[in-house]
Amino acid sequence: MSDVNIEDLEREAEAAMRRAYAPYSNFRVGAAVRGSDGTVHAGCNVENSSYPAGICAERTAISRAVADGVRTFTELVICTEAAVPTPPCGICRQVLHEFAPMLQITSITTSGARQTWRLDALLPAAFAANLMAVS
Ligand code: THU
Repeated sequence: MSDVNIEDLEREAEAAMRRAYAPYSNFRVGAAVRGSDGTVHAGCNVENSSYPAGICAERTAISRAVADGVRTFTELVICTEAAVPTPPCGICRQVLHEFAPMLQITSITTSGARQTWRLDALLPAAFAANLMAVS
């Protein structure tokens, strides 16, 4: 899929949310990320009876994209049924930073609320590979 607009990204995020496997938290999350080439990659949270084995929607979407050969991103949409738009968790922020430090992130709810952030505001002073240079 290419040349999609923000509404398409939102539709993909909501559709992915409806495919979430979240029997333990009952908190369904969908995410859709747009690659720099215009392609869209969606993911949902996938929980597990061994709770820490679960994975968030954002990391599922990024993993799918990377597996499909896409490593740079311009925009991410998250969709939930929460009362307020939810930002990505800390682990997801770090994973998103690996590929798109300036990513634009929009969180929407099924009731119509929305909020937008840029990743560098959500994860200031991020750890990154270039910081591992030793003197
Ligand atoms: N979750 C996400 O998918 N993304 C986030 O950024 C926050 C949390 C999922 C993980 C778990 O399946 C459920 O929401 C409750 O934490």
